[in-house]
Amino acid sequence: MRRAVRFVIALVFGLGLLTWAGSVIVHGTTREWFEKDVSLRAQLAVSGARRGLVANWDQQHVVELATLLSDIAHDERIMAVAACAADSSLLARTRDFPAELSCASMGIHVRPDPEAPAAAWQTWNSVVELPGGTVHVSAIPLLETERPLGYLVLVHDLSFVERRAEQTQRYLLLAFGFLALAASAITVVAARLSWRGWSNELRRILRSGGHRPEFQPILRDVHELVGRIAAEGDAEREGGMWTPQRLKQTLNRHLHGERVVVLANREPYVHQRAEDGRTSVMHPASGLVTALEPVMRACSGTWIAHGSGSADREMADRDGRLRVPPGEESYVLRRVWLTPEEEQGYYYGFSNEGLWPLCHIAHVRPSFRSEDWKHYQAVNEKFADAVCAEVDTDDPIVLVQDYHFALAPGLIRQRLPRATVIMFWHIPWPSSQRFGICPWREELLEGMLGSSILGFHTQADCNNFVGCVERFLEARTDQEQHAIVQHGRSTLVRPYPISLEWPARWQQGALTVEECRAGVVGELGLAPDALIGLGVDRLDYTKGIEERMLAVERLLERFPALRGRFTFVQLAAPSRTIIEQYRQLNERVEFVAARINERFGKGAYRPVVLLRAHHEPPTVFRYYRAAHVCYVSSLHDGMNLVAKEFVSAREDEQGVLVLSQFTGAARELPEALIVNPYDLDEASSALVAALNMSAEEQRDRMRAMRAMVAEFNVYRWAGRMLVDASRLRSRDRLTGRLTDHLMVAAGLRP
Ligand code: F6P
Repeated sequence: MRRAVRFVIALVFGLGLLTWAGSVIVHGTTREWFEKDVSLRAQLAVSGARRGLVANWDQQHVVELATLLSDIAHDERIMAVAACAADSSLLARTRDFPAELSCASMGIHVRPDPEAPAAAWQTWNSVVELPGGTVHVSAIPLLETERPLGYLVLVHDLSFVERRAEQTQRYLLLAFGFLALAASAITVVAARLSWRGWSNELRRILRSGGHRPEFQPILRDVHELVGRIAAEGDAEREGGMWTPQRLKQTLNRHLHGERVVVLANREPYVHQRAEDGRTSVMHPASGLVTALEPVMRACSGTWIAHGSGSADREMADRDGRLRVPPGEESYVLRRVWLTPEEEQGYYYGFSNEGLWPLCHIAHVRPSFRSEDWKHYQAVNEKFADAVCAEVDTDDPIVLVQDYHFALAPGLIRQRLPRATVIMFWHIPWPSSQRFGICPWREELLEGMLGSSILGFHTQADCNNFVGCVERFLEARTDQEQHAIVQHGRSTLVRPYPISLEWPARWQQGALTVEECRAGVVGELGLAPDALIGLGVDRLDYTKGIEERMLAVERLLERFPALRGRFTFVQLAAPSRTIIEQYRQLNERVEFVAARINERFGKGAYRPVVLLRAHHEPPTVFRYYRAAHVCYVSSLHDGMNLVAKEFVSAREDEQGVLVLSQFTGAARELPEALIVNPYDLDEASSALVAALNMSAEEQRDRMRAMRAMVAEFNVYRWAGRMLVDASRLRSRDRLTGRLTDHLMVAAGLRP
């Protein structure tokens, strides 16, 4: 209704404007016509009386001349007449001749050059404003053969012209006004009738199931859209916890249960052959795997990864496929085989000596080598081909993971233009200044923009990425949609902070905290009342393990009472060991640990226990439960799931998390003791505060953090991305189909 009123107002206003402009034009034109008419009449009047005028044109016949002038002035529109001699003296005039007009003032217009011959005398017409009103003046020469006698001045009253023009304007306004109202009323009624007709027809078709084939595609879309909007509404209203079931339902509802294809370098299950010939399955130490594996269990589908285990080939079929998890078989793992050269160039070289240090502020210089870049390109192609081989539609949902596959979204888009590609970047994204040092920065950005959705952990990472695109590519940023538009396609760039499954899988049947602690104390030969600090990481220079050791050293320096009582246990999974910086880190950590043990160890007491080995998740879980304090000291980390894992393992609501301010997790877990890992005094103070914290305060902090991780769990992380993807898919499908219908309707497509 409001829209109709707005429309009528706009229409009336528009027509009013038109009317005003029209009436101004009409007024001008009418006046011009009347002036021409008046000039003509003056000529006619003079021609009619010419003979008598010529005969009496001198001073002796002024009485006759005056009579002749009065006769001319009998015409209802001629107001006054005067006869002027050739020398511009007045011969005679009627009574009402305006005093403001004189023969002399008009003579110069009739005979501009007094020396000129008679033929050069000319008629002069003009509109003159007088105090009594507007008049039209015609000065007409009177010639006898070739001899000019003088001229006659005829004054016409023009007030009737004004009156007529005003009248016309009034009629015009009325007519247009009426027209405007009539047009508005007709348009509104017609629009309402056709809308009602259209919706009735649509309703009828929807009710009857739409028997006409030409309506089928559009009906499907409408049904789909309506269903989706209703489902989204339901999901929002449902609220509550995200669970595997809810994620599955979301996939069914929003994406018709379509299979999800995950592309990640690291596989969730690695088969290894031991020296004794036995095969074992290993869960790699990887935040990516920890987060994504429960999602795949819930959604099913296919996980495509590098088959890196020594027994991987023999456990898979000839296409590299096997069903996992072992014993549960809920999704397919497709292993892709790489040559040693490919692994060296793509994984160790470009990914981990180039992109990894480029994206982390950890003071290791990135190395970019052309041979590595070539392998990186080739391996991205290889995996993009594997994705295409695994999908069974032309518009699959593909989740591309991490910095190993920056080019894959673009390559998949080339092969499957209608695919929904969601890329998630698990590590930080650098500033444009820093990113600019990569020789292939444009190619990387272009590749990533092949995605439909590009996810980072934090808004700061998104901002950095957008900054890089603005600096290095020709693309438009859509601030409202948080998207980048390039080549007519848009990529949403949004933060999706990653998380864990909730509750933790390893919790089922786990030992109590006391049992775990007693077990660890026994294993490591600690005193029964030992205070246990814990660190869990891959041995990576971004994790700040060295700084962590130094903080422990500082703690023992500053608080001697803790010597003999406090032990810091570091679970360190060897990682990327063929890279020089990792080897050096390994040595440095070992060296610092040995130094601290030497300085503060006594008898069987060792303040630092460095367990350099791969530990399976149940073991790590046991250590989380045994610890009094867990210290995550990353120098730079996208999220850091160790922090969340510690929280999820502590359903006893005890234990303190000391957390580096340089992790994504610090934004979500402010109840941890947040520290700068470079500041050893601050870090050691936080450690001592943690060890002395009352059980009550521990509970309050831990409870808040657990609530946070429980609610914002990994099912929610995946669900949000999938819901966003489904919105994009509906939008693209609808616009695509609508364009098709319109093209067909316009005869542009058969
Ligand atoms: O955080 C980056 C990342 O690739 C994660 O995805 C994964 O948790 C970790 O590093 C493991 O690295 P890699 O696969 O090289 O062992």
